[in-house]
Amino acid sequence: MSISINPSILSCDFAQFDRELAKIADADMAHVDIMDNHFVPNLTFGPPVVERIKAVSPIPLDMHLMISEADRHAPVYAEMGCESVTFHLEASAAPVRTARELRRLGAKASVAVKPATPVEPLIDLLGEFDQVLIMTVEPGFGGQKFLDVCLPKVRRIREAISAANLELTVQVDGGISEDTIGRAAEAGADVFVAGSAVYGADNPAAQITRLRELAGEHAC
Ligand code: DX5
Ligand code: ZN
Repeated sequence: MSISINPSILSCDFAQFDRELAKIADADMAHVDIMDNHFVPNLTFGPPVVERIKAVSPIPLDMHLMISEADRHAPVYAEMGCESVTFHLEASAAPVRTARELRRLGAKASVAVKPATPVEPLIDLLGEFDQVLIMTVEPGFGGQKFLDVCLPKVRRIREAISAANLELTVQVDGGISEDTIGRAAEAGADVFVAGSAVYGADNPAAQITRLRELAGEHAC
């Protein structure tokens, strides 16, 4: 299983995206959190800003949409060329239709679940997705404590993916650090989002390398 480290730019300086993105040029993808002050109690930015981020990013974009009415808004990010688009199951009335639309537009289709949302409704739908994101904090803010109670879901979804002989990635997001990444990798995650752990480090590039090593040591 190959490991991806996707730093979240939620923890970077929004006044200088080009410089902040250059710091994570060795990462796999830049994780971009879109929040609407409705689905989550926080607000970031939308398509016009993402277009500029896309233009200056040295690496592909991993969009995480924490927004209501996902079916209507998610395709916009695929249309602008974002490589992966994650929408929340809780915010979608038609997840299969939206996933198919994202793929038709050339993006990877990824679905996210909050800590209290079960993964079982996704099990028969796995073939429709390229990735499942298991949130390991309540979405909305960076710098929160990792929720170990979410790890059994990581395990169950990884088992279901293997049992179905599929190749989806399992992403974890929230509280990922040197202390927690090993536990998430052991449970079956292979894509790791880290915001404060990367941008809060003195040397973000070295921290990405360190996280990658630790995840590799514990990968299942
Ligand atoms: C939280 C966001 C995360 C956030 C993670 O709702 O989805 O991507 O940036 O930040 P850390 O790694 O600091 O928990
Ligand atoms: Zn995120």
